[in-house]
Amino acid sequence: MNVLLLGSGGREHTLAWKIAQSSLLSHLYIAPGNAGTLEKGTNLPLSVNDFQGIKEAVLSHCIGMVVVGPEDPLVNGIHDFFLADQELHNIPVIGPTRKGAMLEGSKDFAKQFMLRHAIPTAAYKTFTLTSLPAGIEFLTSLRPPYVLKADGLAAGKGVIICSTLEEAKKEFTALLQESKFGSASQKVVVEAFLSGIELSMFILTDGKNYIILPEAKDYKKIREGDQGPNTGGMGSISPVSFADPVFIKKVEERIIQPTMKGLLSEGIDYQGFLFFGLMNVQGNPYVIEYNCRMGDPETESVIPRIQNDILKLFRAVAHRCLEEETLIVDPRSTATVMLVSDGYPGTYEKGKIITGEDQVESSLIFHAGTVSLQDPKSIVTNGGRVIAVTSYGATMKEALTTSYRNAKKISFEGKTLRRDIGFDL
Ligand code: AMP
Ligand code: GLY
Repeated sequence: MNVLLLGSGGREHTLAWKIAQSSLLSHLYIAPGNAGTLEKGTNLPLSVNDFQGIKEAVLSHCIGMVVVGPEDPLVNGIHDFFLADQELHNIPVIGPTRKGAMLEGSKDFAKQFMLRHAIPTAAYKTFTLTSLPAGIEFLTSLRPPYVLKADGLAAGKGVIICSTLEEAKKEFTALLQESKFGSASQKVVVEAFLSGIELSMFILTDGKNYIILPEAKDYKKIREGDQGPNTGGMGSISPVSFADPVFIKKVEERIIQPTMKGLLSEGIDYQGFLFFGLMNVQGNPYVIEYNCRMGDPETESVIPRIQNDILKLFRAVAHRCLEEETLIVDPRSTATVMLVSDGYPGTYEKGKIITGEDQVESSLIFHAGTVSLQDPKSIVTNGGRVIAVTSYGATMKEALTTSYRNAKKISFEGKTLRRDIGFDL
């Protein structure tokens, strides 16, 4: 089978690495991909939101399955586009339809969904420009810190946490009055702050059955000690020490099962990955957010721990027989360290030559923002997050030591990393 994978980050290079090992694969295409995915298949110069271009590629390359990495095309309805097209409707898409992707695409929808299905989450209210005064009143009734969330997709920047009421009122007003995130902030969710330690859990589902993937923890802040602005993620580890069987059971019973039941009862057909961003509040899990895809950089530490042939799992999703598959998990720990461009998550330069990948031993290298140049032949930086270094170890510490040792060997001007991944565990 020929497979088309959509996306261009570290998550997609990891998925490409895994799909390339499948006995079911004939040829892998990646759109648009990066310098890393190029080693695993053929990159196609197509935007993930160019549905017509994707259709043409699927037909001309006889693609038998489409795997969607990022949320954007899912929220924009790529799965629905395939279902509605005579020539495409039999080609499985791994990723939910638009309605399912709304769990990520609209925070207000996600909160209402959780409320309807009694899924533990922070108390909240949603406001628009017309209800701005009521929002200010609601903020005044809360205790700091204040959590404000743009309703729609805002490239990971839509959550603002304010330590004072004054700042919260100012940000809240800016979100609604100045459309800080365009149409994404036409609605703003104001929610109670949850105090605890975060982790990410994932399922792969065929709409009815699901398998729970290994959990992970990502490190979002740019600076050590979880300081500074949020990034897409500076590193990740799997497993997570506090996610013991008792905690995982609570997540399954209180969150995963009611979510699946809710999707079924509301007629939302969900095939693909579902990501639960969780807060462990004194041993009890709460949902901070849903994502309709795998996490990045969680994928870089989770997927290497899965020993199954991933296309067999995807095929079972497409045929709705996931109950026939058993997940096989590598008992070792994995640790991912992200190398990013100086200035990220603010402005940064691109086009810096990357060297040293050939010196790496005993780690997996997953490219994120990289591009391969022909003349002269080189690989250069092309984004904020540049390269993920993932290693296995008998313990988290051992995996981290190997990742840091190899992270040193990769060089590019402005290379920045956090040296304290896993510090809180
Ligand atoms: P998100 O973009 O939804 O992943 O949110 C970004 C980060 O904001 C999360 O990873 C949490 O650290 C934090 N956050 C979001 N909602 C809450 C909440 N209700 N309480 C505490 N922290 C939160
Ligand atoms: N690492 C968090 C995310 O992928 O949203």
